[in-house]
Parts: sequence; C-alpha cells; structure tokens
Amino acid sequence: MKPYQDFLDEIIITEEQLQKRIRELGAEISKDYAGKELLVVCILRGGVMFLTDLIRQINVPLAIEFMAVASYGSGARASSGDVRITLDLNTSIKDRHVLIVEDIIDSGHTLAAVIELLQTRDPASLYVCTLLDKVSRREVEVPVRYRGFAIEDKFVFGYGLDMDDYYRNLPFIGTVNLKKYEDPT
Ligand code: IMP
Ligand code: MG
Repeated sequence: MKPYQDFLDEIIITEEQLQKRIRELGAEISKDYAGKELLVVCILRGGVMFLTDLIRQINVPLAIEFMAVASYGSGARASSGDVRITLDLNTSIKDRHVLIVEDIIDSGHTLAAVIELLQTRDPASLYVCTLLDKVSRREVEVPVRYRGFAIEDKFVFGYGLDMDDYYRNLPFIGTVNLKKYEDPT
C-alpha cells in the first residue's frame, strides 16, 4: 500500500472539524434521548472510528452492537444495491431505542436494507446517524436524523473509510486522486 500522501487530493474535513462536529452531534443526541436508554448499532467496518468518538460524547445510558453488511461486487467503488448482512446483531432490539451509526451514505442501498430488516424486529424507535452524506448520489430514500457533514460526490477516505481496506486509521477525511491511486509506479 502506498503512503496516502501519494494519492491524497485534498483534506476536506480536518481532525479538529470532525471532533467539533461530533461533540455537537453527541450533545444533540443526548438531549433528544434524555431519560431514555440507547442501543447504538454500528455498521462495520467504516463506522467504527465515528462510533467510538461519538459515544464518548453521549451522556445517556447506552449499549453498543455491531452489524456488517456487504454489497455484491465488492472492490467496485459503488454499491450494487444487492445488499447482504454478513454479521447480524447479537441481541434483541424489540422495544429498544435503536440508533444506527454509519460512516457514509452514498446510494442509500446499504442503509435502506438495514433499516428494512431492523424495522421487522419491532424497535421502540429507529433512527440513523451518519457522519457523511453524499446527498446528490442518493438512489433510494433513507431517513437521516443526524448528519455530520454533507459532502460532494467525490471518493473519500480516512477516519473509518477505506481504500481497499487500508487507511481507515487516518484522523481526517480526504479526497482521493484515483488516477494517482491506481498508478502502479
Ligand atoms: P451506499 O449503499 O451506496 O449508500 O454505500 C454505502 C457504503 O459504501 C458505505 O458504508 C461505505 O462503506 C461505502 N462508500 C461509499 N462512498 C464511499 C467513499 O467515498 N469512500 C469510502 N467508502 C465509501
Ligand atoms: Mg466500505
């Protein structure tokens, strides 16, 4: 894997901007769920960094759970719409307040499938918190209650988001120069 500096186009959200916005989201969620308990469902693997920072900013009692989702034709940089659950929850969500935490919504297919599945299990409430939203790419409607940043239609990486499974550990969000990324030299 190349050093990210070789194909980074631009840092569009800095570490400071991420952390500031996450504090705001945590405060908003804490206010909205005051007096309740939360079950935060993180979509693996991209949502992990966001989850761990976000839950430290939430002050209502909460439990965490994980789900993993794949869409057929992985390797492609666009979701196929054919979504498959590869890791399901370990707990019942019946009558619980569920908040789904996701890294990014692009076409919307992934989250639409997750929401449809979880709704059948009778949660008390079910809402979505996404760090990033590529609004202009939406193919299916997804109700988003909490949104970190709306971004342009560019491929991004860092802070949980990967390029072929790497670079998730970077503390910022950057755009990719795909030509440089794919250049074999
Ligand atoms: P959707 O089903 O098209 O909404 O795609 C959502 C999933 O695609 C996310 O959970 C990400 O894993 C991935 N994804 C979409 N856009 C990007 C991107 O710009 N960088 C990295 N991953 C992305
Ligand atoms: Mg991904």
